[in-house]
Amino acid sequence: MANNLLAGKRGIIFGALDEQSIAWKVAERCAEEGAKFTLTNAPVAMRFGKIQELAEKVNAEVIPADATSNEDLETLIDKSVEILGGKLDFVLHSIGMSINVRKGRAYTDLKHDWMQKTFDVSAISFHRLMQTLYQKDAMNEWGSILALTYIAAQRTFPDYNEMAESKALLESFARSFGYHYGKHNHVRVNTISQSPTMTTAGSGIKGFQEFFDYADKMSPLGNAPAEDCANYCVVMFSDLTKQVTMQNLYHDGGFSNMGMSPDLLEE
Ligand SMILES: NC(=O)c1ccc[n+]([C@@H]2O[C@H](COP(=O)([O-])OP(=O)(O)OC[C@H]3O[C@@H](n4cnc5c(N)ncnc54)[C@H](O)[C@@H]3O)[C@@H](O)[C@H]2O)c1
Repeated sequence: MANNLLAGKRGIIFGALDEQSIAWKVAERCAEEGAKFTLTNAPVAMRFGKIQELAEKVNAEVIPADATSNEDLETLIDKSVEILGGKLDFVLHSIGMSINVRKGRAYTDLKHDWMQKTFDVSAISFHRLMQTLYQKDAMNEWGSILALTYIAAQRTFPDYNEMAESKALLESFARSFGYHYGKHNHVRVNTISQSPTMTTAGSGIKGFQEFFDYADKMSPLGNAPAEDCANYCVVMFSDLTKQVTMQNLYHDGGFSNMGMSPDLLEE
């Protein structure tokens, strides 16, 4: 169902790797709602991902950029503004990566140089991105910037490892930059805290399937699917949410406010 909510809006969408990616669904929905945007991902993702397939489908150009490189981000933003024909109205940061998680290291036995890499890719890249947009004055008035996060920033989920601290940092950057960007030209900055979702990043976490099922039972509405997350992103990019900023917004079927689930107890 399309409502032209993003007609005339221009944006950049990070992080679509394959059709499971949350960013993939966001790109599809943004296109349906009338937005024009560029797609980007790390250069290495160009080789094993399917981003070109998505690009054809949504009629977008792909500009490779490593989110940990200032130079890449500068080029990405300059090219996007040029291709799209003006400043940007929305940006989605949908990036996460931890070598410690990938290699199955326990939280009590982490490699700290890998941890720094996790923070750089998954959290500092968000500040880096916003600072580059800000210094280039690349966002239109009342623009909207979003990053995707997870509730492990607030509660302990042992197998989420140092991604928990990474998400806490990410959410804090949203609040702090939200202040500066709001004052500067009414640009809003928020994070969406999404349910467990079956994607490459998600399923890399130990015991993910069991945890997915647990969260699904714990949430009165069930786990929020990626398609619904995409709908939420569209609303947050639209003019219907102009006064929402510096928030961490739960999109989790009610999980975050549950204490105990009789369904789970019975099992
Ligand atoms: N899947 C879940 O259960 C879940 C739940 C809550 C939040 N999230 C968050 O949603 C976001 C998207 O993840 P996803 O689940 O769609 O998985 P995904 O694996 O499809 O997306 C992660 C993306 O990050 C990109 N990336 C990694 N390193 C990069 C770099 N250096 N530069 C640029 N891009 C880089 C990857 O190429 C990939 O496209 C992440 O922030 C993730 O933490 C996921």
